[in-house]
Amino acid sequence: MIAIKNLTVRLSGREVIKNINLEIAKGKTLVVMGLSGVGKSTLLRCIIGLMKPAEGAIYIGGKEITRLSYSDLDKVRKKIGMVFQSPALFDSLTIGENVAFGLREHTNFPEEEIQRIVAEKLAIVDLEGKENLMPSQLSGGMQKRASLARTIATNPEGILYDEPTSGLDPIMSNVINQLINNLKEQFGVTSIVVTHDLESAFMVGDEIAMLYQGEIVGKGSPQEFKRSTSPIVQQFIQGSIQGPIKV
Ligand SMILES: Nc1ncnc2c1ncn2[C@@H]1O[C@H](COP(=O)(O)OP(=O)(O)OP(=O)(O)O)[C@@H](O)[C@H]1O
Ligand SMILES: [Mg+2]
Repeated sequence: MIAIKNLTVRLSGREVIKNINLEIAKGKTLVVMGLSGVGKSTLLRCIIGLMKPAEGAIYIGGKEITRLSYSDLDKVRKKIGMVFQSPALFDSLTIGENVAFGLREHTNFPEEEIQRIVAEKLAIVDLEGKENLMPSQLSGGMQKRASLARTIATNPEGILYDEPTSGLDPIMSNVINQLINNLKEQFGVTSIVVTHDLESAFMVGDEIAMLYQGEIVGKGSPQEFKRSTSPIVQQFIQGSIQGPIKV
């Protein structure tokens, strides 16, 4: 479903991502972990076409997207939703209008159907009946969940989640983890989840990969990842101050 081949990204002359390769099969979840500033959000921005890599190719459903025209890219974007690290809601629209946004852009559903879908998606993220509130009236975690509802409103085939549980309490984190798993199990959604949250990573990941200094330093099933012989992966999992990662 998603394949990344020899991807290199340069930002301000620095190679943030160095020749990485990743593949995510349809209906699977890949977790990408890594230290703050390592390039995880940058990687997701490339996959959704918001940023052009310096080198390499990104295939979504077999289509190479890094050199597409804007209108062709827009078609691919309808298939892939992104939950941004900061909620990125439209401040001047109600929560209901925010969630309805993609539906109004991409479908011709009648108003009643749009309202029904909005209510259904808000209920999934535990924001039932919050349609008429403005984003500024919601807590940070609620905004995050509203942005998730907006992403899932159009039933994308693939979802990129940028730290979906950061800033959420442990119970709400689990609601989101279960939502990620439900979308996979019920609808075969293919996902990439960027997170620092180990519990979440082990709960949702079919595979976990760690990005370090622009490269993939460890990749495997949650069990394989936990048993990784890479001292970098082990230091990260244990959160140790001592080790190859300099703090
Ligand atoms: N537009 C930009 N121009 C120049 N440098 C950038 C730009 N965007 C990001 N960077 C740099 O690229 C690196 C990777 O940033 P990125 O946001 O992808 O990290 P991250 O892994 O998502 O971090 P975090 O876990 O804190 O969200 C950082 O060093 C950042 O300063
Ligand atoms: Mg980030």
